[in-house]
Amino acid sequence: MGKFQVISHPLIQHKLSILRRSTTPTKDFRELVDEIAMLMGYEVSRDLPLEDVEIETPVTTTVQKQLAGKKLAIVPILRAGIGMVDGLLSLVPAAKVGHIGMYRDEETLEPVEYLVKLPEDIDQRQIFLVDPMLATGGSAILAVDSLKKRGATNIRFVCLVAAPEGVEKLQAAHPDVDIYAASLDEKLNEHGYIVPGLGDAGDRLFGTK
Ligand code: PRP
Ligand code: URA
Repeated sequence: MGKFQVISHPLIQHKLSILRRSTTPTKDFRELVDEIAMLMGYEVSRDLPLEDVEIETPVTTTVQKQLAGKKLAIVPILRAGIGMVDGLLSLVPAAKVGHIGMYRDEETLEPVEYLVKLPEDIDQRQIFLVDPMLATGGSAILAVDSLKKRGATNIRFVCLVAAPEGVEKLQAAHPDVDIYAASLDEKLNEHGYIVPGLGDAGDRLFGTK
């Protein structure tokens, strides 16, 4: 079973509370998603492998550390995942970025995939799949299916708010995928929204409602 980790740093909790408020305007919402993603990035990348490298300082030659192993790809699930990309890129500027477009059918709550554009060598990369919301889990599961179909083997899913139902479903469908969230919320309501949640992440991020 993949691990499920809530990253509950005080700065993340504080920013998440502002993000949840219905009065938080689009501009602030966007900035907060960006900042929280960056703060989560420290923890999500904590156990990336290192290797020795010999370097010259102005004073001497020394053996130090550099990131080893697979190169990174950040893959947002559109639309709302886009808001988390820049925060993570500020930590790993050389990462490639892929996109998976998906929306939830409002009646059935089933995800519908409409775009997949990934780096060619996605099968060689450590992937951070990002979406602020893990609700029923349908979108995340389909996105991981899509990545695996294209050869991906190393996937971490990073979200801001998770519902217990979504965590359980994603873990059952993809036990090899570690899940990181800024909060594990209480439940889903009858419309598939996370409670207490933050509403529709895509609409709040882009100001479309
Ligand atoms: C939201 C969210 C996730 C999905 C989560 O996207 O960003 O992708 O719902 O729900 P699930 O776990 O039940 O699948 P939405 O479908 O609203 O699309 P949008 O980001 O384009 O607004
Ligand atoms: N998608 C969202 O944007 N918010 C929710 O609460 C559930 C799914």
